[in-house]
Amino acid sequence: MIILGLETSCDETSAAIIEGHDNKIKLLSNVVASSLTLHKTTGGIIPENAAREQIKYIIPVIDEALKVANVNLEDIDAIALTYGPGLIGSLLVGVETAKSISWFLNKPIIPINHMVGHIYANWIENPQIEFPAIALVVSGGHTDLLLMNGHGNLKLLGGTRDDAAGECFDKSARLLGFNYPGGPKIAELAKKGDPKTFKLPRPMIGSHDFEFSFSGLKTAFFNATKAHFSILRNDIPNSKVGWNQVVESKLSKTEKQILYNLCESLQTAIVDVLVKKTLKAALKYNAKSILISGGVAANQKLRDTFELMIMDQKINIKFFAPQKSLCTDNATMVAAAGFYNYNPVSWQKVTADPELYFDY
Ligand code: KG4
Ligand code: ZN
Repeated sequence: MIILGLETSCDETSAAIIEGHDNKIKLLSNVVASSLTLHKTTGGIIPENAAREQIKYIIPVIDEALKVANVNLEDIDAIALTYGPGLIGSLLVGVETAKSISWFLNKPIIPINHMVGHIYANWIENPQIEFPAIALVVSGGHTDLLLMNGHGNLKLLGGTRDDAAGECFDKSARLLGFNYPGGPKIAELAKKGDPKTFKLPRPMIGSHDFEFSFSGLKTAFFNATKAHFSILRNDIPNSKVGWNQVVESKLSKTEKQILYNLCESLQTAIVDVLVKKTLKAALKYNAKSILISGGVAANQKLRDTFELMIMDQKINIKFFAPQKSLCTDNATMVAAAGFYNYNPVSWQKVTADPELYFDY
């Protein structure tokens, strides 16, 4: 079976072709166009700008995905499509394109929840994943912990009460003057830092549920930063000058080290909470696998800490993380979710749902 995947929920426009047989999938192409450079000039994603760019990209991206895969549009069996959650204008670009192809070629659509799509990035290279599995979805907008008892059999165990883990990275980075996405920048600076110099909180780490909270950590990071540096982005008259430029030119060696320590302390606090809660859920539900996904799953410290804790505690659980390029938004994960949850519908039944959550 050949599936065309489409993903346009936020600022990426992506198309992918996969071929699925038995329980395995083969990735034939994955094309991702991002309007990130545009958003850097505006300091963040402006929904209408993102959608306008996606209208320009969507056909060339599909065309390229077909060419790379050496597949004709007529040869596909179904279209797996992200229909929510996300920005309404962006979602509509994918939804309306998929409906047009579906109507014209008489091919069914498999509507996919974007967050479920993230989880399925794990199956692209690992068809042997065993259930029950605990899935941690950590992105810019979500921090969710789920129990998976089979394909399409998901139960939400908990989510964040305020900011998502990625949002905590992004907002803290922005405070330092770094543009979206802030996670990779914090992770880069953290490499030279010491996590013990700043005692940042681990919100809800010991709570008896599987809920998260990251806004207090962000505030603690803000206070620690402010205590050491008088120049913050908001204080700079020309807001186009980020603090990163100030760091490069004005910070002393000692100040730079403080910055690295702050970043490593923040990263470690986020990672500690995510790992501890996920392991707790895995033990409670006798999970055979732990799957992480979403943009923050690209974080190396998060991956290393999971591996280390599982080894240290001698727990018999397999840990999976998608390859880094498939952690952030892409259509391959959507196509994979469509293959393993094959519930095709006609185009008349498909509508964008920006507020979609885990409907299980
Ligand atoms: O899944 P994604 O591409 O988009 C959403 O659906 O939100 O995730 C983007 C998020 C951003 O918050 C970004 O800062 C974070 O993933 N991120 C990282 C890393 N790479 C991306 N966070 C920490 N470390 C990274 N290496
Ligand atoms: Zn995403």
